[in-house]
Amino acid sequence: MQISLCPPFSVLCAAAVVGAGIGGSATAHFLRQHFGPEVQVDVFEKGEVGGRLATVTVNHNEYESGGSIIHSLNLHMQEFVKQLGELRPGVSKLWPGGKTAVFNGEEVILEETDWYLLDLFRLWWRYGISFIRLQMWVEEIMEKFMRIYKYQAHGYAFSSVEELLDSLGGSGFINMTRRPLSDSLLELGVSQRFIDEVIAPVMRVNYGQNVSIPAFVGAVSLAGAQNNLWAVEGGNKHVCSGLLKMANANLLKAQVKSVSPVHTGICLK
Ligand SMILES: Cc1cc2nc3c(=O)[nH]c(=O)nc-3n(C[C@H](O)[C@H](O)[C@H](O)COP(=O)(O)OP(=O)(O)OC[C@H]3O[C@@H](n4cnc5c(N)ncnc54)[C@H](O)[C@@H]3O)c2cc1C
Ligand SMILES: *[C@@H]1O[C@H](CO)[C@@H](O)[C@H](O)[C@H]1NC(C)=O
Ligand SMILES: *[C@@H]1O[C@H](CO)[C@@H](O)[C@H](O)[C@H]1NC(C)=O
Repeated sequence: MQISLCPPFSVLCAAAVVGAGIGGSATAHFLRQHFGPEVQVDVFEKGEVGGRLATVTVNHNEYESGGSIIHSLNLHMQEFVKQLGELRPGVSKLWPGGKTAVFNGEEVILEETDWYLLDLFRLWWRYGISFIRLQMWVEEIMEKFMRIYKYQAHGYAFSSVEELLDSLGGSGFINMTRRPLSDSLLELGVSQRFIDEVIAPVMRVNYGQNVSIPAFVGAVSLAGAQNNLWAVEGGNKHVCSGLLKMANANLLKAQVKSVSPVHTGICLK
């Protein structure tokens, strides 16, 4: 996603956004909010509005085939759905809730019951305090992640992914993109048994990977296995089309081949 703006210190007259995924659609929305009704906002999309937020239809039912679950700390998606009004937040179909069990391929070795204290005791009996250590680790990472909203509120933008990660979580975040999840968890004091029986299946379900996945994306995957997840009824992609409509953006079905600055008399100071 790229935006072409007029030269610095000039009045913005038109903006072009490449791509109508959630990034481009949100950009169109924020451009409209920031620059008011006069600015022309053109959005170029070579494929489908929604991009990697997409659905497939099976037996007259729509199923998410891309980004399917939305985390409760994704404040932008929450705000968009609220502003769009006609969209309804619903239950995520990927992790629909219900009871959790651990199966080792032959037998069920742990199964959730209706008794919370009994479940806690059995978790502790089998894994020690690994599950508490893991929970605190994921929460700490998400807290740091939330700093993104403060930067955005101050209008601060990052010029590289590294700079973004460093501003959110220091060298710790950068290091997490370079070491295996299992190393980070073992260092944290999470038991090998917990890694094998609980962490490994989560990585397989979410990303088709194992515990050698980089720790950073592993933490994202674990945050995506919690119970505070939701989805937009009828498809998350409707947030994109809704934002484009609300922003009164011109959607152009075309592939952008190159981007170059255009200097016009109106734009120059
Ligand atoms: C299978 C899968 C599962 C996922 N699960 C989750 C999940 O559960 N929860 C979650 O939060 N995230 C999930 N994600 C990630 C999430 O879907 C993406 O991070 C997000 O949708 C990316 O949005 P984007 O706007 O940055 O990019 P995209 O959605 O890829 O949008 C880019 C758009 O730009 C268009 N485009 C590109 N080049 C040009 C050009 N030259 N000219 C015109 N148009 C162009 C493309 O056609 C596309 O529509 C998942 C992703 C996948 C693939
Ligand atoms: C990240 O790695 C670098 C180089 O190995 C090290 O100096 C630094 O202390 C690490 N940061 C954290 C927070 O562990
Ligand atoms: C994970 O998968 C990779 C690639 O297939 C493999 O090299 C690695 O040894 C696996 N790690 C574990 C812990 O199974």
